[in-house]
Amino acid sequence: MIRSQSHRRLDRRNFLRAGLTMLSSPAVLAGSGIIPARADTPGTFYVSPPAPDHTLRHFASRAGIRFGAALRSPILRQAPDFSPFYVAECSSLTPEWELKWESLTYGGESYNFTDCDLIIDLARRNGLAVRGHSLLWHLSTPAWAVQRMRETRDWGIVENHIRTVVSRYRDVIDHWDVVNEPIDASGPNGLRDNVFHEVYGPDYIEQAIRLTHEIAPNARLFINDFSLEYDFPEEHARRNALIGLAEHLLSRGVPLSGVGIQAHLDLRKGRISQRDVDTFLSRLEAMGLDISITELDVYEADRSLPIDQRDDLVAQTAREFLDVALAHASVKSLTTWGLSDRFSWLSEPPQGQPGNRGLLYDELWQAKPMRQAVVEALIG
Ligand code: XIL
Repeated sequence: MIRSQSHRRLDRRNFLRAGLTMLSSPAVLAGSGIIPARADTPGTFYVSPPAPDHTLRHFASRAGIRFGAALRSPILRQAPDFSPFYVAECSSLTPEWELKWESLTYGGESYNFTDCDLIIDLARRNGLAVRGHSLLWHLSTPAWAVQRMRETRDWGIVENHIRTVVSRYRDVIDHWDVVNEPIDASGPNGLRDNVFHEVYGPDYIEQAIRLTHEIAPNARLFINDFSLEYDFPEEHARRNALIGLAEHLLSRGVPLSGVGIQAHLDLRKGRISQRDVDTFLSRLEAMGLDISITELDVYEADRSLPIDQRDDLVAQTAREFLDVALAHASVKSLTTWGLSDRFSWLSEPPQGQPGNRGLLYDELWQAKPMRQAVVEALIG
């Protein structure tokens, strides 16, 4: 396995010296800097992030792009020892949950920014950028808002949401996924018939982007979508639908800066189609759009294989994708959907038995071959 040499290494003896009691603890001990061992893991532990000239942000900045990761606020509350990994590795953070409409108004209609502020403040303190994710997403629209939209057809409901959130974080959020997952290849004109489409019609996308631009004129504004990497009829149709949408918006003078490719790669689908990704990115590029890789991770096909083999398969598919993506000058940012398998939506139940290993670090924050694949792809 390839590991970054810059990590401070604790062998088992030092680890034991550092605190025998931790071995029995299933939880991370806040402030200890030590990650407890698990019976099934070898005796090597990395407890600090790489040195500045070995970080992902370093390699990314040499390639002229940003490296970012999704971060969820419970990490900052319950496992603050891990935040240095995010600060060291990233030039940008994406709140994984906290900016979503439903998270911001959880349990009622009034906004609660406490969780989001935790992440934003970490970014502010450390001079990191923030990618705002996302203003409108069918899966994170609170029930009360859905109901109100259907009843009143009042655009003011959406407008109030966008104004409230975008103006609050105008100083630090410089990229917005304004609309998340607007595409449905079999939907009307390739659009998803979500509540916004249903109530306001297809122009909701244009209206949302224009409004965001009015409030944060310097922010880069994106539409963001998934399942764009494989050679299946469905994914061809999705790529075409996304291009069609972008063309339509640009032809109407909508201030769309770019397209976000989520890049949730999936080994169950086989290998990605480098040719199709290349063609797709070239078409977007030719339209003058920026491209952001926004949520890279890898879902495994077979978790019963030996770990080294699993990790190599994950790294290989990430590398195949990145080699094509990063060859495009319009790809200006790369974000992974988390850093460690310990905090990955792919490891969440019911899928998480045993946990998926689709991110750069394992559960004990040992760098995995996928991290090395990202480094090598960035170095080019
Ligand atoms: C996911 C989170 O990672 C999960 O923890 C949550 O339960 C659901 O949302 N595409 C997106 C992200 O745009 O917002 C999703 O994040 C993953 C799929």
